[in-house]
Amino acid sequence: MDLRWNGARCVSRVLLRRCASIIPLHGKVYWRRGNLRILGIESSCDETAAAVVADGREILSSVVASQIEVHRKYGGVVPELASREHLRQIVPVVREALAQAGMQLADVDAIGVTHGPGLVGALLVGITYGKTLAMALGKPLVAVNHLAGHVHAVFLEAHRAGRAAKLPAVCLIVSGGHTVLYEVKTAESGGLLSYRKIGQTRDDAAGEAYDKVAKLLGLGYPGGPILDRLASVANGALAPVKFGPTKTRGNPLDFSFSGLKTAVLYHVREHPEYTGEIQTREEALQRGERKFEQLLPLCSPQTLALVREFQNAVVRDLVERTMMAAEELAVESVLVSGGVAANSQLRTTFEERGKSKGIEVFFPSRALSTDNAAMIAAAAYEKFQAGAFGDASLNADPSLALA
Ligand code: KG4
Ligand code: ZN
Repeated sequence: MDLRWNGARCVSRVLLRRCASIIPLHGKVYWRRGNLRILGIESSCDETAAAVVADGREILSSVVASQIEVHRKYGGVVPELASREHLRQIVPVVREALAQAGMQLADVDAIGVTHGPGLVGALLVGITYGKTLAMALGKPLVAVNHLAGHVHAVFLEAHRAGRAAKLPAVCLIVSGGHTVLYEVKTAESGGLLSYRKIGQTRDDAAGEAYDKVAKLLGLGYPGGPILDRLASVANGALAPVKFGPTKTRGNPLDFSFSGLKTAVLYHVREHPEYTGEIQTREEALQRGERKFEQLLPLCSPQTLALVREFQNAVVRDLVERTMMAAEELAVESVLVSGGVAANSQLRTTFEERGKSKGIEVFFPSRALSTDNAAMIAAAAYEKFQAGAFGDASLNADPSLALA
């Protein structure tokens, strides 16, 4: 029976019965060293992604099908639409990842799939497909925490650049869904990395604040990339407002971004001079004119300066608290990952601060910062080596914690 691409055939009851008994045995049967090729599958939010990574380090292929176009008009991810898009994309995306790696399904040594945190319906698509492939092919299944994937994205890039991130490290994961700080250590037993959560956002994630501020300024979705570019051309425009450092009671390593977002909203509401240009930009977005070059001429110096002040506040908060943690814990490395890690000002500020403090800072490439499956395959390799395999009972865990 040819099972290579026929997802429907894979889920036949006969096959499920036949394969269910294979999976729990994987720890013993499939262990092998050297050139181990893992197919990673990621569907936790709005990107359907598949990748093949050899030995947890070499990216043989990485394919990401973004759903931005589907969610754009809603200004955020619509869970039901995300699940439906994942269903449409999962087979061609996996097929493309294998083709780019010059492989067939049978050449895959294991399947790593994100099982949380994320949107339950979206996760279930990847999990069901990954589980079914593992069963049908008789290959081991590895369940991956999406956040561990973001940490491994940093290691993947460090390897590519011929660098090594020394542990223990402080890791900031900062995206549209998460803003969290971990201490990352090598496990004493030599097995899996160990994580300790040392700070997190009390309200919005930093990427969410970018998206909401962009929306209220008529700058489209997602907000991060356009605000990043507009802030970089604000130059010396007079600041219409200044945002002070965010104060959080209790844990000084916790973040908070909803106050900043609300401050931008109130500032815009109190200054009617923004209204006309916001409307003009919204009309441009409706015509599909959403590129930086198209939106920049529609932004007054006052708007550019407002965006710059917003970004200064976000970057200052992320960098200050992360570096505070790094100094307190006397770590040698800082790892920064997640969609917002693509931000140019965040990168340069972290690099400058790291240099002045003698702490090495590591980022993934921009492509590995946002959601992708290469990071999932890399994280799966670590669990594969530790013999931590999933089985047919694997389910989605929308609020799965890393620590
Ligand atoms: O990691 P990711 O792809 O998905 C989530 O898990 O959320 O991150 C997407 C988030 C969005 O909120 C987007 O606005 C933000 O990352 N983002 C950026 C930049 N590029 C993407 N934020 C700031 N600056 C950027 N250059
Ligand atoms: Zn993510």
